[in-house]
Amino acid sequence: MTLDKQARDILHMNDKGGYTLPTHGLYPYQWNWDSAFAAWGFTTFDPDRGWTELETLMSGQWDDGMLPHILFHRSDPSYFPGPDVWKGRGPIASSGISQPPVAATFMAKMLAMDPSGEPRARAMWPKLNAWHRWFMEWRLDDGAVCVTHPWEAGRDNAPDWDGAMKAINADDVGEYTRRDTGHVDPAMRPTKYDYDRYLKLVQLGVSVDWDQAKLREINPFRVADPTMTFTLLRAQRDMLAMGQRFSEDVAEIEGWITTLEQGAQTLWNPDIDGYDSRDVNAGSFNGVLSNASALCWYAGIKDDRALPAIERMVNAVTYSLASFDPDAEGFEPLRYWRGPTWPIMNYLVGSGMEEQGVDALGARIRDDTARLMELNGFAEYYHPIDGTPAGGGTFTWTAAVWLGWAGDNREDQRGAA
Ligand code: DGY
Repeated sequence: MTLDKQARDILHMNDKGGYTLPTHGLYPYQWNWDSAFAAWGFTTFDPDRGWTELETLMSGQWDDGMLPHILFHRSDPSYFPGPDVWKGRGPIASSGISQPPVAATFMAKMLAMDPSGEPRARAMWPKLNAWHRWFMEWRLDDGAVCVTHPWEAGRDNAPDWDGAMKAINADDVGEYTRRDTGHVDPAMRPTKYDYDRYLKLVQLGVSVDWDQAKLREINPFRVADPTMTFTLLRAQRDMLAMGQRFSEDVAEIEGWITTLEQGAQTLWNPDIDGYDSRDVNAGSFNGVLSNASALCWYAGIKDDRALPAIERMVNAVTYSLASFDPDAEGFEPLRYWRGPTWPIMNYLVGSGMEEQGVDALGARIRDDTARLMELNGFAEYYHPIDGTPAGGGTFTWTAAVWLGWAGDNREDQRGAA
């Protein structure tokens, strides 16, 4: 069976009717950024299903504009923490935090691939704009976008959060049973120390009914993050272009782009020659070079200063791009966001490089991504040195990256984007 067919089969297999699971077992709900990748993947062969995916995602939007990171359409006890723990207050049972805002950028790509979807894109544009406004209102620090929970960045256990996590007292978090380690080898997942703190932050959010003003006062965790800053900056550029096409008022978005461009520069850490995360409460950089550091090109920032360190990271492994600097202390090649290579990040980084003329590095990352899938199937993430598939298998967004970018039809897709 061709890899194209396998990838399409994975999308069908994880399709729950209107929304797609990241993978069965480990993640039995609709995840925000996973879903945006799924929408794009479907659009390569079934645009109508692609648009529906985004519409279902938007249907979970809260009154204040927030778009949750998980929508719990149907309760499933095989996942923890579920709807009864999160107690989200949107139209669909949900978590109380958001995730990297890549949906608008995928919507722009889908529109290029399927112009007949324009009415559906027009209907979603104001909702996406409201979501982005929510970030601008509640998550900025000096123009950079912050996360208030490690899960908000999508890079759950990245070393970026280690310092800020130490400031969280989780002694009273109570008893709970994890489900993730029943699906996947615990050595590939976050530790109990991490989970205690993840839950403590959820409990704090619930204690104020996810009121952002109140949460701002009591949440000890606030980290300005390259993932959020660069994805939102890119999303705003795509919203600007689509807004002009749809005759929307885009003056506010132009201002946001300036703010975010300035904010991105507050993440430049000369000590690591790269874009870093900043612990807002501690007032210091975290000193972490990661795959998110390489998202500047995706954000439309052509920054040659960032090249040498990222080039070193690429050349340090067989299958780039590792999620954490392979030369750094604490690099763990199989543990989730502390080392493994993630195809979805490779796509964001690599396609951004291609757009900005960083051709050789972008092509290397794309080829490495393709080789991983050719050799080891569509896993959640992979060992960057020997390619071992890790985390969940038959993964939706990995399949989408094959269909839209890394796979055999990539020339067509690049032409369309
Ligand atoms: C998980 O459950 O590991 C998810 O990444 C949280 O979003």
